[in-house]
Amino acid sequence: MTIVIKDKELLTTQETANYLGVSKSTVYRMVKNEILKPIKTPGGQRRFEVKELENYKDLSRKGNNEDKRNIKKKETEQLQIKVLDDNNGNEKNQEDGESQEDVGTVDPRNKLNNLTGKQWMPETKSFWYQKGLGSKHPHAKIERQHPAPFSFQDIARLILFFTKENEIVLDPFSGVGSTIKACAMHNREGIGIELSQRWNDLAIERIEFEVGEGESQKHTFINGDSTIELKKIEDDSIDFMVTSPPYWSILNKKADHKVKNERLKNNLATNYSDDEKDLGNISDYQDFLTILVDNIFMECARALKPSKYMSLVVSDFRNQSEFISFHSDLIQAMNKRKINNKYELSLQGVKVLLQNHKSLLPYGYPFAYVENIHHQYIVIFRKTEIKKKKKR
Ligand SMILES: C[S@@+](CC[C@H](N)C(=O)[O-])C[C@H]1O[C@@H](n2cnc3c(N)ncnc32)[C@H](O)[C@@H]1O
Repeated sequence: MTIVIKDKELLTTQETANYLGVSKSTVYRMVKNEILKPIKTPGGQRRFEVKELENYKDLSRKGNNEDKRNIKKKETEQLQIKVLDDNNGNEKNQEDGESQEDVGTVDPRNKLNNLTGKQWMPETKSFWYQKGLGSKHPHAKIERQHPAPFSFQDIARLILFFTKENEIVLDPFSGVGSTIKACAMHNREGIGIELSQRWNDLAIERIEFEVGEGESQKHTFINGDSTIELKKIEDDSIDFMVTSPPYWSILNKKADHKVKNERLKNNLATNYSDDEKDLGNISDYQDFLTILVDNIFMECARALKPSKYMSLVVSDFRNQSEFISFHSDLIQAMNKRKINNKYELSLQGVKVLLQNHKSLLPYGYPFAYVENIHHQYIVIFRKTEIKKKKKR
């Protein structure tokens, strides 16, 4: 319910959250950080002026760079807190004005990230709820053009866990730059490799528009074939690798009801490219898997610093009536694989990313069980030293 006091249009906290496309707890933090200044109604209720919200939106869209950077920094801090304390999708019930609880201090022995114990613990849960901006958010416009982007918010959580500030993050299938956006928002340096010029150009545009002018120059965007470009990256030079590869050639199959409704109707791309170097255009599944693992992921493993991590965001999928457990095929092909005979990849965990917002479709009904696949996997490997076998 919008109320009007002396010609001012005022919104409640929930309405403000909807208006800005953020959660209610983010609005509380914006107030705490004095980004938003609510007024009190005569009855003592907190309300936000639409005019002030409009100013904020304008400023974060195109405003003066200094202010914009400060706001982004504050937003980043909020997102960082939000990401870490929203207990995997369950927003905390906060009363107006309630303060953020103390998160503690970073243990000096912690060489992996900048998280305190309190922030670290929930991130190790074996499931997360997928976060997204929502299709109506102005920052969803560029991302939506790509047929399979991942959410920069989920990647931000991974980056905050697996790196410290200023460290280097690699994404060999960078698409429209979600990994680089997460890096830019959290003071990490991103390197993205993307075959298609269209997605690569959009990634740069996205960082400039959504993060800030000049921000794209702090990161590296390589428009090329990862099977070639990765070879140019030095051994042991990357702090974290995170990516989502093509899922074989599933985007090339006949458009289903959902694709027709959501993409073809809106004139949006339904595959990445027609380029034969595009891994999404390899017709044989085993060939695809071999190239993906040997020429891409093992190259990334070589480039990773010892004891650092890589995270693969993947889903299982169906090819006609066959169910392909892509994540387990990757684990079989990669776990314990040797790197330069000194290191190996060791599986550390498989996190389930729940996509509880997806709509159910009656695929097999009323004849057979056909799964609505509403989760992805985050497969986590670490580059570890090969343990020497003890002589008997
Ligand atoms: C699942 S999408 C990644 C989307 C990305 N995570 C994002 O949020 O935008 C896979 C990407 O890999 C790219 N790709 C396919 N083959 C490639 C290759 N050989 N080298 C580099 N990129 C490639 C595709 O063009 C596509 O954009």
